[in-house]
Amino acid sequence: MKANMIVGIQWGDEGKGKIVDLMAQNYDAVCRYQGGHNAGHTIWVDGVRYALHLIPSGILNPKAINIIGNGVVVSPEALIEEMKQFENLQERLFVSDKAHMILKHHILIDQAKEKLRGAKAIGTTGRGIGPSYGSKIERSGHRLGELRDTQKLAQNLSEFYEENRALFGALGIVTPDFESLKIELDGYAQALLPFLADTTQMVWDLLDANKRVLLEGAQGTLLDIDHGTYPFVTSSNTISAGACVGLGLSPKDIGKVTGIVKAYCTRVGNGPFPTEDRGEDGEMLRVKGKEVGTSTGRARRCGWFDAVACRYASRINGCDELAIMKLDVLDGFERIKVCVAYEVDGKRVETLPQDLDNVTPIYEELPGWESVVGCRKFDDLPPSAKAYIARLEEITQTKVGIISTSPDRNDTIVL
Ligand code: IMP
Repeated sequence: MKANMIVGIQWGDEGKGKIVDLMAQNYDAVCRYQGGHNAGHTIWVDGVRYALHLIPSGILNPKAINIIGNGVVVSPEALIEEMKQFENLQERLFVSDKAHMILKHHILIDQAKEKLRGAKAIGTTGRGIGPSYGSKIERSGHRLGELRDTQKLAQNLSEFYEENRALFGALGIVTPDFESLKIELDGYAQALLPFLADTTQMVWDLLDANKRVLLEGAQGTLLDIDHGTYPFVTSSNTISAGACVGLGLSPKDIGKVTGIVKAYCTRVGNGPFPTEDRGEDGEMLRVKGKEVGTSTGRARRCGWFDAVACRYASRINGCDELAIMKLDVLDGFERIKVCVAYEVDGKRVETLPQDLDNVTPIYEELPGWESVVGCRKFDDLPPSAKAYIARLEEITQTKVGIISTSPDRNDTIVL
């Protein structure tokens, strides 16, 4: 069996949570493969609110197992806190012992560096994501498996703090002494060791046994460290290829890829956003779409659908289909804009330039509609909404497989 995948096509926050939650009901295992607790979504089940940042959405399906792969950076503190929402996690949650940890100093470095960047700040979530991946690449990071010997880990970390005393001093960071570090790590070990596993072998076994495995991407394609709007990106490979590295799969293990997009576009943090609308329309999208970050509470920047970026993202991820989320947020707009090309140095460009700072979007305008709220069949959509979907399929060269018409799990059109 091959694993199916959900991947973000824009700058994250596309509404992956709703689709993964919906799909997770039909899977035996749900796996995260990159990112950390910078991601986040809220799921309501029977009136109870669950905030998920690291734990895969399959946790709300009692029959599914949930895997946090080696490519995820795990803050032990954040994971332990998140686990408190659930009972009986044993045998339902497995965390790779190869996953790198986000330790407190990573978080402090992230926040201190953002301050130092001033006007050039990336607008990170301040969760230590970049510094933890940085340590991993630099080969000075620490994996969760090292919690099996906290004495040695505390010793190594203490030496690291000592060697880098000047750096920490300059950033105004106070590092813990050996004793308090050891106590902290012992706490992590006690809570997390029962959940550590060889998740690579586990996913292989699941696929070999013909179990249905869903791979849950975090963030979005335009935040990919290699293929996004660098340096205003996150520090992991958010694209579908990231799942191979972040779980130990081969490209041949990947089956259907569903790309998640909003019917418009949003971005949190800084960096280029060609179709951003700083006027009334952008404000209307923000208010109607309740565009506030789940992890950080920051207001999201809003704008129109960028079909050029979406076509690029669809190609790079190998999307078999798109899920168009929050179509209802476009209700009531008289005209709806779609970016079909850019103008760069007076020329029309239909591919995604590396430098998105100096592009002017070229828009096509389509007629709006009154309401699509709660539509559950394609035929229930107003003709102009159908025409909008058809046009997106055409320009992005990807078929639309799912349309979401309200936050409710049931208000979803599956084509
Ligand atoms: P970091 O991942 O905290 O290092 O932040 C880097 C960039 O990615 C910032 O612009 C963040 O706002 C953005 N980012 C990180 N995680 C998410 C997410 O889950 N949704 C949307 N943006 C994100």
